[in-house]
Amino acid sequence: MNITITKTANSKHKDIDFENIPFGKYTSDHMFVMDYADGAWGNFRIIPYQGLLLDPQSKALQYCQCIFEGMKATMGLDGVPTLLRPNLNIERFNLSAERMCMPVVPSDIFLAALKAITLSEIDWIPRAEGCALYLRPTMIATESSLGVTPSDSYIFYIYAAPVQPYFNKPVKLVTEQTLIRAVPGGTGEAKTGGNYAGSLLAGKLAKEKGFDQIIWLENPAFTKIQEAGMMNLFFVIGDTVLTPKLSGAVLKGTTRTYFIDILKEKNIAVEVRDIYIDEIMEASKNGTLKEAFGAGTAAVVSHIAEITHGDLRMVLPEDGDKISTMLFNEINGLRAGTIADKRNWLVPVK
Ligand SMILES: Cc1ncc(COP(=O)(O)O)c(C=O)c1O
Repeated sequence: MNITITKTANSKHKDIDFENIPFGKYTSDHMFVMDYADGAWGNFRIIPYQGLLLDPQSKALQYCQCIFEGMKATMGLDGVPTLLRPNLNIERFNLSAERMCMPVVPSDIFLAALKAITLSEIDWIPRAEGCALYLRPTMIATESSLGVTPSDSYIFYIYAAPVQPYFNKPVKLVTEQTLIRAVPGGTGEAKTGGNYAGSLLAGKLAKEKGFDQIIWLENPAFTKIQEAGMMNLFFVIGDTVLTPKLSGAVLKGTTRTYFIDILKEKNIAVEVRDIYIDEIMEASKNGTLKEAFGAGTAAVVSHIAEITHGDLRMVLPEDGDKISTMLFNEINGLRAGTIADKRNWLVPVK
């Protein structure tokens, strides 16, 4: 695959304080771009980070035919950047593509593009442990036509953003019993912009009431737990870790997959099944609920301090972070190179 490279004449690198990089604030100097036309991907290029010229009638803008991924490149102790299980992101991207009637990106092209942009932006990978270069592969439909039909042309691009560790205080969650994020058969399993736009109102209303995020419940009964905000959920009841089964409406989180695999490997009981809010409230009442946490690329783990469901409020034990901390340390250590990669999850970028 031949990638042409055009370097920027105006690097932003010197203007960034790498000791203080708020999540998502800065983008790096270059982006990878390729075009889809006449049934094939081509015109592979790395160019200075810049705006896109889109027709106002393009299908991405009018009908939200667009998808994205989120992943991190980190710097190993040997100075070689690594990606953690990029195939999980590539597979999920292509599932999103199929659901949104978009062309898939062959995994060899995708991986080559990820490596090319990581190497091009190697100076943008923050070196401190827990920091990373966040990569955002994106595909948008570019055809201009009013008909609600799949586009015949697309742009795929990957841009990069240096990020610090995302430390957040334990979060207060509230279940949502009116608005819904996704239903089985809908687009909830795809990483497509409309799912996020559709979740904004519930998030805003929850914030106004003092909560950090929503727990989405499956309608019509609003009892089965789906996920929370931009993370998958885990609960520790007794000695067992529970996480909701993918119902067709829940995003298949990569962090969720790492955690399930690590728990199984360590012989910690893990149940992937339908989980109902009532059983979590009951476990909290009878003292068997030890931990609850969210899993996602940005923070890796978000400890949950409280969950409110209707008139009921449950408060999680303050010291309830044993399993979540172990999982967090495994992933962070693996990325930083301080924990050996026995599972061959890291892909070196050379
Ligand atoms: C809706 C939703 N659920 C879960 C996740 C967690 O997925 P991952 O672990 O791949 O970041 C994300 C984040 O991308 C998300 O947007």
